[in-house]
Amino acid sequence: MITLSNIHKTFNRGKASQVNAVNGVDLNIGDGEFVVIVGSNGSGKSTLLNLISGSTLPTSGTVALDNTDVTRLADYQRSKWIARVFQNPLSGTASELSILDNFRLAALRTKPKGLSIGVTDAFKLDVKDRIALLGLGLENKITQPIGTLSGGQRQALTLLMSVMDDCKILLLDEPTAALDPKSADIVMKTADQLSRDFKLTTILVTHNLKDAYSYGSRIIQMVEGKVIKDIDTKHKQALKQNDLFEWFG
Ligand SMILES: Nc1ncnc2c1ncn2[C@@H]1O[C@H](COP(=O)(O)OP(=O)(O)OP(=O)(O)O)[C@@H](O)[C@H]1O
Ligand SMILES: [Mg+2]
Repeated sequence: MITLSNIHKTFNRGKASQVNAVNGVDLNIGDGEFVVIVGSNGSGKSTLLNLISGSTLPTSGTVALDNTDVTRLADYQRSKWIARVFQNPLSGTASELSILDNFRLAALRTKPKGLSIGVTDAFKLDVKDRIALLGLGLENKITQPIGTLSGGQRQALTLLMSVMDDCKILLLDEPTAALDPKSADIVMKTADQLSRDFKLTTILVTHNLKDAYSYGSRIIQMVEGKVIKDIDTKHKQALKQNDLFEWFG
């Protein structure tokens, strides 16, 4: 589903501030895999996600999604494949709009420009049904501005919205970093559930080693723009949580 071939990303090339953020990564991620990426600050994790989504173009190397070479495609041209959730709960939704209107916008995301989606009773019911799955009681607040919700509630809704249309890839960059432990738990469980229900190829970047241990079928460690560990399902199951802490020792 995702194939990165010898990807390099250099920022500020030729200047004193030059950084090789991603430094020769080869990665093949299969359909429906759930990959966790860990690594210290500045090791290139977010840049790698940006290279997959197209919000950053590589200095060299190629990116393919679903066997299509997308290396030179902009992010909006890749959006039919990709849903993204960021660290900041505010970045995924429009505060002043109601929950329902945010879902309406999300449903339009990959539709041709000019198309509109009316808020029919069927659409409302579908949105309510999806929201009810979160178990947060938010299905009774769909006319409320989304800005009035807590960060955790908002992040859980952002996740739901991000998979409203037929995307195949879910990119999560520290989706729980700004959340309290209970909200973080709800968001992680929601992500896991959506990933399974919609058979999404999922990449989670996290500094939470407990989550890195509990979720996903494969775990990767990045150091200085390189993949230095890539542990498959069988070997991940054999890992102990302490082993992960030792990677950072
Ligand atoms: N747009 C940019 N311009 C210049 N340098 C950048 C840019 N984006 C990232 N970098 C640099 O590239 C390196 C990798 O950054 P990146 O954000 O990918 O790290 P990260 O692993 O996501 O770190 P963190 O855990 O702190 O989020 C860093 O040295 C960073 O300063
Ligand atoms: Mg980052």
